[in-house]
Amino acid sequence: MTVSQIAVPPFDVPRVIAHRGASASAPENTLAAFRRAHALGAPWVEFDVKLTADNRPIVFHDDILSRTTNGQGPVAAAPLAALGDLDAGQWFDPDFAGELVPTLEEVVDLLAEMGLGANMEIKPCPGRDEETAAIALEVARQVWPSEASPLLVSSFSRTALDVARQTAPQWPRGLLTEALTDDWRQAAEAVGAWSIHCASEPLGPSGVAEVLDAGYRVMVYTVNDPGRALNLWDWGVHGIFTDRPEVLLPLAGA
Ligand code: G3P
Ligand code: MG
Repeated sequence: MTVSQIAVPPFDVPRVIAHRGASASAPENTLAAFRRAHALGAPWVEFDVKLTADNRPIVFHDDILSRTTNGQGPVAAAPLAALGDLDAGQWFDPDFAGELVPTLEEVVDLLAEMGLGANMEIKPCPGRDEETAAIALEVARQVWPSEASPLLVSSFSRTALDVARQTAPQWPRGLLTEALTDDWRQAAEAVGAWSIHCASEPLGPSGVAEVLDAGYRVMVYTVNDPGRALNLWDWGVHGIFTDRPEVLLPLAGA
């Protein structure tokens, strides 16, 4: 399948997307971070989704609990009920003590209430690619408002994107990659990608041009430096994931 054959409803991404919410000023992937992104004027947020031990989709980045909560051990070994006791805000700042690990449903409800668009990154714990994608997409299909702009679904996992292609073809897919490897076009075609989401380094203008020439949207993570953002937009990048939307938004123009 080529890019031009992919049926994606007409929509586009904004130039600034709050990465894990406004994660420089609130604890990442919490309701507080998404509220903060909205308060700062971000039109979209990016968030990470993975499964608990009892197969509930939660919004969380790491495979282990210890960096961003007061819990320990792998997320994949913790049932949702155990996560409910954890504090996901205190590590960031005592002002956020009591912030919880949100479920996917809770995040979507909040985004819908605030009218924010989103990029849902499927981030499976090791070995859980297929089930994470299947369950996250099933839940997202139930709760994502039909009148909202389509949910952009991304992943480093080609297995997860393949599940998305099969089960949620109405939503655009973004292929995440740390670098434009020799096989990126093959991977993008295989999953029917709409966009390529590249790490900021080592991307340069020729890499951006290569992706644009192939007909894909180009999105870049994670950029907090205004000069770098201006260069990326100048090269033709469509959307930038940033922890500091308040810094990039004033530069982004219309
Ligand atoms: O989706 C862009 C970016 O979030 C990918 O990397 O590790 O921040 O989830 P990471
Ligand atoms: Mg992410």
